[in-house]
Amino acid sequence: MADAAEQISTDLARLDQLRAEIGRHNTLYYGIDAPEITDAQYDELMRELRDLEARFPDLATEDSPTQTVGAPPSTGFAQVTHPVPLLSLGNAFDLEELAAWHRRAARLIGDEFEMVCELKFDGLAVAITYEDGRLATGATRGDGRVGEDVTENLRTIGSLPKEVGAEAPGRIEVRGEVMFPISEFESLNRWREEEGLAPYANPRNTAAGSLRQIDPSVTAGRPLQVFAYGLGYPQDGVGADTHLGTLGYLSDLGFSVSPNHRTVDTVGEADDFYREWLERREELDYACDGVVVKVNRLDYQRHLGHVGREPRWAVAYKFPAERRETVLIDIRFNVGRTGTINPYAVLEPVVISGATIRQATLHNEDNIRSRDLRRGDRVVVERAGEVIPQVIASLPEHRAGDPDEFEMPSECPSCGHGVVRPEGEAMSHCMNSGCPAQLTRLIEHFVSRGAMDIDGLGEKQVAVLLEKELIADAADIFRLQERREELVALERMGETSVSNLLGAIEASRSRPLARVLVALGIRLVGAEVASLLARRFRDMDGLIAASPEEMEAVPGIGPKIARSVADYFSDESNRDLVDRLRRAGVNLADADRAEPREQVLAGKKFVVTGRLSRFSRSEIQDMIKDLGGSVSGSVSKRTDFVVAGEDAGSKLAAALELEVKTLDEDAFLAMVDGPDAPGSPEL
Ligand code: IVH
Repeated sequence: MADAAEQISTDLARLDQLRAEIGRHNTLYYGIDAPEITDAQYDELMRELRDLEARFPDLATEDSPTQTVGAPPSTGFAQVTHPVPLLSLGNAFDLEELAAWHRRAARLIGDEFEMVCELKFDGLAVAITYEDGRLATGATRGDGRVGEDVTENLRTIGSLPKEVGAEAPGRIEVRGEVMFPISEFESLNRWREEEGLAPYANPRNTAAGSLRQIDPSVTAGRPLQVFAYGLGYPQDGVGADTHLGTLGYLSDLGFSVSPNHRTVDTVGEADDFYREWLERREELDYACDGVVVKVNRLDYQRHLGHVGREPRWAVAYKFPAERRETVLIDIRFNVGRTGTINPYAVLEPVVISGATIRQATLHNEDNIRSRDLRRGDRVVVERAGEVIPQVIASLPEHRAGDPDEFEMPSECPSCGHGVVRPEGEAMSHCMNSGCPAQLTRLIEHFVSRGAMDIDGLGEKQVAVLLEKELIADAADIFRLQERREELVALERMGETSVSNLLGAIEASRSRPLARVLVALGIRLVGAEVASLLARRFRDMDGLIAASPEEMEAVPGIGPKIARSVADYFSDESNRDLVDRLRRAGVNLADADRAEPREQVLAGKKFVVTGRLSRFSRSEIQDMIKDLGGSVSGSVSKRTDFVVAGEDAGSKLAAALELEVKTLDEDAFLAMVDGPDAPGSPEL
């Protein structure tokens, strides 16, 4: 019995952890175009979360990553609410899963229905609205409901029609995928490497980054392309009765529609199309990560509808990660910003899904040993979802002689200091806090896009600034304007780049607190955790003064994170860095700094329902979270309070049935104004 209870509490903890983790990866992938894990790893996390949610349906929330798409829109652009949400697609990873999708659809529309197979482009989804034949707005997917207004950026794409003529009456919404051609991607990266800038991860992120430029003239300089694959909402007299007809209609209006599609009647034929493109995908100059199979008749599509965020009328039949053989020339090590010694493979260059791979991560010592990778081996390299390539196996049958088994270095490759692998940990660490490689990595991280985002400071520039002693730590970056002459004198610099760089540094002074927290490089503090901490403590001093217990009271912050943050600030040199940033005029407090609120709702679970008069839904949700509570989309026995506005329906009924306390807005306000407030219910 105790075991079962323990298991449940482990599962529940894992559920929260998965939501937070997936949320973080969503932000990395959709929000800042800098993924840290492969698509396959992401799919695995989503699968685990779905399984857990299926076992604990009471705990489903509206904002779970299984119910939402992508990440909320970033703040640099105006927001656009999609009249009809942009859905995601369910995945099938093998023929059996494709057949299962077909059976589910057949239950609703009968066994025999035609399908259209087309390519699944791995770019950035957009919805483009034309009013009376003219391009009016273009938006990214965002979280599926609200996206970013990128109209002006889309206008710069030459092949996208700006007018569609009289055949498109009233208002139509065209949906498609913005792509960055692979050939252009490779030449852009070659140029970036020559300039000492970090290469972009993959064409998808590059397309996203190019489209989401605040200055559309930057987008105009990028070779973007849009493939149209559907209409946003059906409208009488517009388009056709079938998906195939829609593709023809879009093409007639002047949109680029991929010619690589075909109608099929059976799952077997869909599989043939899939296999054909699995072979042929290298012919394409666009990243393609599978095939989309869609029910052809639009009336069937409407009848099938969607479940959660996924339509029943379409499925993504995903290509497996691509694998290639090559030679492992060398195993080398770099030193991470926290001193980890990270092994990586130097490979004989090999082209995998359109990108030339020269290096791959090897993760850690155990990974290398378990695969028995040795220098000179022929190896299999996998590149899943266009993200970090991995060496997955060696082919020892090709081994010449008996190369040495792999050994971790006992000294730091940068400073020569001793390397230690702490008991129970996977990574070895350089124990020298003054290690120059750690400092370099930390500064590279500090200026990177998810952190202070200082454009023009890439790896090479950081190395030069350190080498020339123009900076000795991150805070010195903000004193570079005093050394303008020396900067101009550097190779490849010059007046204009120096002005741009100093401008970018100036702009970064006002980044929100969460970004600064990310930039410090505290272990376990990524974007998600940083924004939770910033939201709760509002300014750096509040956070520095907080005890681990106070941090742990924030939902989403566990004991390990709290310990890591507290340890970081207990180190005098770190506090000194923060002081120097403060003196340099870096923002350390969020603008709407209110006094940190007492966590009067700590641990309490709320459901909000009905129409409220004093708050918008998101205002009251933010307020509950600010005060330490959490908000869920459905009422269960674990709910503490239901805040009900006008016309509250089934959730209020559920609350009454389950005897959960209900509050109107006034009672809610009285409660949060403090326990002494008259009429406040007891917590
Ligand atoms: S149809 C209801 N067709 O894949 C969703 N999507 O993983 C209908 N995508 O958000 C989407 N190629 O951005 C469709 N030929 C294609 C596609 C495609 C790429 C993207 C799209 C979607 C994502 C879902």
